Amino acid sequence: MIAFAAEPATLFGRHLLEVTDLSRDELARLLRLAQYLKVQGRGEQRTLLRDRTLAMLFEKPSLRTRVSFEVAMTQLGGEVLFAQGAEFMVGSRESPEDAARTLSRYVDVIAVRTHAHEPLQRFAHASTVPVINALSARAHPCQAIADVLTMRERFGDVAGLRIAYVGDARNNVAASLAEAAVTLGATVQFGCPPTHRPSESYLAKLDALGESSGGATRAFSNAVRAVRGADVVYTDVWTSMGEERYRERNDAMLRPYAVTEELFAFAKPNAIFMHCLPAHRGEEVVAGVIDGPRSAVFDQAENRMHAQKALLLALLTELKGLPI
Ligand code: CP
Ligand code: NVA
Repeated sequence: MIAFAAEPATLFGRHLLEVTDLSRDELARLLRLAQYLKVQGRGEQRTLLRDRTLAMLFEKPSLRTRVSFEVAMTQLGGEVLFAQGAEFMVGSRESPEDAARTLSRYVDVIAVRTHAHEPLQRFAHASTVPVINALSARAHPCQAIADVLTMRERFGDVAGLRIAYVGDARNNVAASLAEAAVTLGATVQFGCPPTHRPSESYLAKLDALGESSGGATRAFSNAVRAVRGADVVYTDVWTSMGEERYRERNDAMLRPYAVTEELFAFAKPNAIFMHCLPAHRGEEVVAGVIDGPRSAVFDQAENRMHAQKALLLALLTELKGLPI
């Protein structure tokens, strides 16, 4: 059953660079809209973003983010331009500000996948159309929205869940997932070595984010302690894009945090396994878990598209006639 909120939507015309750009209420509304769009017939969506154009500027490879945004925008009746390169944000040809000001004259919304987060902030500050972070070194908010949508589908509510994140707990996916989860009232238990542990100040920031909803974080250096009693066990690659120089060190440090059948068995009997993908079987997760019956990874991948449809509609329209 979809709950219809009484207040008007507030995301119109805004940027989404991090999960914390959304209030708890705005995040909850996006999830309700995404769920509604997922079950609604595609025929009813065909004109919602007619004559609107999404530009995607990607400085790193992508399968899910690129294709799910393209399909979402196309199914909503809009158009998509994709440009892959290495120089949009680094300022080697022109500044992020000038690139943003120029593109704002052509298109209605811009999704950017880049390295450092700060040039993306400068780009968004100069843009007069909404900018979406399609992954930066700091954050992957679109992934996190799809992840909490998947948890809501599986468990009915995110509040009260215990989510174990094992591996590189300092990366973009871990940060955005934790921000979304604690905002909605879940407890996030990181399992990681000291080298890959979020800073104390960031953990305190997460706890503050969760204060009003009962969300909290804990960090353990023992993977079993992080996973014991969890509803969700989540991991990501040990080495993120752009961090390849640390691969050898990461492989050595993170090996004890691999999600094996033995480690997964410490979670609740009905726990699910999650991973943003792409995954490396035999490294951060074994095939028996990611390909097993409790793996939710392809639901997560599908939900990227539904969550991004909701996001595009919320940033580009006033959601007239839609439940949010
Ligand atoms: N999960 C995710 O963002 O996948 P891609 O890198 O393939 O877009
Ligand atoms: N942490 C990974 C996520 C890929 C979707 C990376 O940044 O490469």
